[in-house]
Amino acid sequence: MATLDALDARGRAVVQVDGVAVALFRVNGELHAVADACPHRAGPLSEGDLVGYVVHCPLHTWPFDIRTGLCSRHPGVRVPTFEVRVQGQHILVAASGSVPAP
Ligand code: FES
Repeated sequence: MATLDALDARGRAVVQVDGVAVALFRVNGELHAVADACPHRAGPLSEGDLVGYVVHCPLHTWPFDIRTGLCSRHPGVRVPTFEVRVQGQHILVAASGSVPAP
């Protein structure tokens, strides 16, 4: 679990969820969470350029929608997404499908 003050000036953070690095992005006041490892060659998506809801992998620029995980350049390629919810100052990220109880 992380707190909102873990987000950097760009609204990003990396947290560990069951041993998996998860990149958090705050866009338009909402948080989105994807695995911080590009499915191509594990580039750190947390360091990619974000345009709207699309993060571009910093290694080879594959674009991923942080809401769905889908890659628009390579149909069928997807980075795992995670449910995320804010309760007070706490950021709750689900390990698999559902948001954990606080
Ligand atoms: S590692 Fe992400 S596009 Fe190659």
